[in-house]
Amino acid sequence: MLAPGSAVFHIRVPHPSRVLCGRVGDFDFPTLTAHLTGVRNFEILFDQAEASNSPDSAKQDPAYQQYGSLAFPALPSDRPWIYSNFVQSLDGIVSFKGRHATGGDISQLAEDRWLMDFLRVHSDAVLLGINTLIEETQLLGNRGPVYAIEDPALRRLRDKLGRTTQKNVFVTGAAALNLSEYQVFDAAAVETFIITTPTGARRLAEKNSHPHVKVIVSGEGDFVDLAPAMRALRQHHGIERLLCEGGPTLYGYMSRAGLIDEKFITISPLEIGLFVPREQEPADAERKNPPKERPTTFMAPGFIKENAPWWQWLSCRRIGDHQFNRYRRRR
Ligand SMILES: NC(=O)c1ccc[n+]([C@@H]2O[C@H](COP(=O)([O-])OP(=O)(O)OC[C@H]3O[C@@H](n4cnc5c(N)ncnc54)[C@H](OP(=O)(O)O)[C@@H]3O)[C@@H](O)[C@H]2O)c1
Repeated sequence: MLAPGSAVFHIRVPHPSRVLCGRVGDFDFPTLTAHLTGVRNFEILFDQAEASNSPDSAKQDPAYQQYGSLAFPALPSDRPWIYSNFVQSLDGIVSFKGRHATGGDISQLAEDRWLMDFLRVHSDAVLLGINTLIEETQLLGNRGPVYAIEDPALRRLRDKLGRTTQKNVFVTGAAALNLSEYQVFDAAAVETFIITTPTGARRLAEKNSHPHVKVIVSGEGDFVDLAPAMRALRQHHGIERLLCEGGPTLYGYMSRAGLIDEKFITISPLEIGLFVPREQEPADAERKNPPKERPTTFMAPGFIKENAPWWQWLSCRRIGDHQFNRYRRRR
């Protein structure tokens, strides 16, 4: 029986790539199917974000009954409004590493996967560090995920909101990967961008394998200067709202550069621990050099007491023991 007001969401055993890119993780999906026939409505504990500014045709969409309204402030003048989305354990960890390294393994909740799609609906593009793509592709053993909206109802909502083709933007200093090994760079998947250094751009140009992938060049040495790249996304490619889905290295550099305006954080009621325990089996790609630690949400040089940024806690929702927070950076 569905809870009153909950929308029907047909849960199916997804293609493995969706499992990995969609935080549903490597847990017992058929069991979940048996117990969960719909995505439950989010219980709103408080929400101080602005009122909806969606067109009337979209305002009545069932997604807003499930989540409540979702609106964003006016755009900055020269770059996109940038919001992130992470799921973390109670102790702030975002990946077990090993064979269960995805966000889905942390969340293990269909509603969190739905929220990931819902946040994608409201963005023009999804921004990712290249390691997230590489690691998830290695775990999957095929040509990896595409970071796209899975739920057809939410794809329709995106159309109503007037947002165009879905876009994936990857950051890599080195651009050492072979694009043919990843389906996300196929012409038909989503529109793709690579933000890289002059060295990385040269490497891609020499291969010349994917002329449809747009390359944005910024920075020097191995380091991408993210601020000019964000301006280029807005000014040359019309990206007004950008969703940063990590990983924690990219997120840390973005935050340190003052480029994260908001963070959506799901807190999963799990305790994981920073150090990888002896009994954890490494993933095949880790065998030669298994990691000793797990990542937190922020894996770049951070702040000192004098410049650590403060965040306004804008909203809080819950489903069972999972908590869904939204924070906006105080400027
Ligand atoms: N729980 C969650 O919500 C969540 C979300 C996303 C990811 N994850 C997990 O996090 C793990 C991956 O995270 P990660 O931190 O290792 O990787 P990541 O942030 O996805 O990617 C890091 C890479 O991005 C490039 N990069 C980022 N910032 C750069 C800069 N300013 N200049 C130059 N290059 C830059 C570098 O690529 P090059 O080395 O090519 O130069 C760097 O090695 C995976 O296990 C994934 O499943 C969890």
